[in-house]
Amino acid sequence: MGTPILSAVELTKTFFLGQAVNAVYDVSLDVDDGDLVVLTGPSGSGKSTLLSLLGGLDRPTGGDVILDGHRLSRLGESGLAMLRRAKVGFVFQFFNLIPHLTATENVSLPLRFTGVSRRQMESRAQELLKLVGLGDRMHHRPLQLSGGEQQRVAIARALINQPRVVLADEPTGNLDSRNAQEIARLFANFSTAMGQTFVVVSHNEVFHPYARRIVHMLDGRLTDHPAPTGHQ
Ligand SMILES: Nc1ncnc2c1ncn2[C@@H]1O[C@H](COP(=O)(O)OP(=O)(O)O)[C@@H](O)[C@H]1O
Ligand SMILES: [Mg+2]
Repeated sequence: MGTPILSAVELTKTFFLGQAVNAVYDVSLDVDDGDLVVLTGPSGSGKSTLLSLLGGLDRPTGGDVILDGHRLSRLGESGLAMLRRAKVGFVFQFFNLIPHLTATENVSLPLRFTGVSRRQMESRAQELLKLVGLGDRMHHRPLQLSGGEQQRVAIARALINQPRVVLADEPTGNLDSRNAQEIARLFANFSTAMGQTFVVVSHNEVFHPYARRIVHMLDGRLTDHPAPTGHQ
């Protein structure tokens, strides 16, 4: 066992819309530094909500998240935004690239306003694009790229700040199996070579060979950590 880089401590998120919905309920989870963890479960089981809480995109209604030693509940909005920018990369099912920017410009976006020079931004972006196999697509715009290529641009963008933790929500949901394989291999390579930690929400079994752990969710709970009986 390594050191947890990311922990959920009795994490709960209740939405109140007419009636209360426990999207995440009493989830405790430790993710060790450098691990690749797959989070799976049926639609509506709380996977996306849990991922948002883990990455500090949303606040829990109970419990806490500890990210690289920082208790997120102790941080204000700007502190949380700073920590997120420094430590977390996000990858989503829909690549969310800016259509009028080139691959290089999209990847370097997170470095804007960080004091890094334009030249440096560009060279780091291009280095990452090479690492994700897009060395010959640096000046393409998103619509000039295939789905798999767009997701690789989005991954390069998520990695540009060298985040300790990468959170991916159904990153292969829009890709065919060959491209999905490619994404799984990329995550595994970064995890091994850079020691980065990946939490991947996915039904896709392409991640399984690389997964240190597969965590199942049902009705807001982790099902491989069942609640004590009589405590439903
Ligand atoms: N912003 C929200 N407001 C109200 N309910 C929400 C919100 N986000 C998610 N939910 C509810 O929380 C539950 C879990 O959703 P979600 O985390 O998106 O599940 P999954 O990603 O596993 O499909 C669902 O019942 C969903 O309807
Ligand atoms: Mg989801």
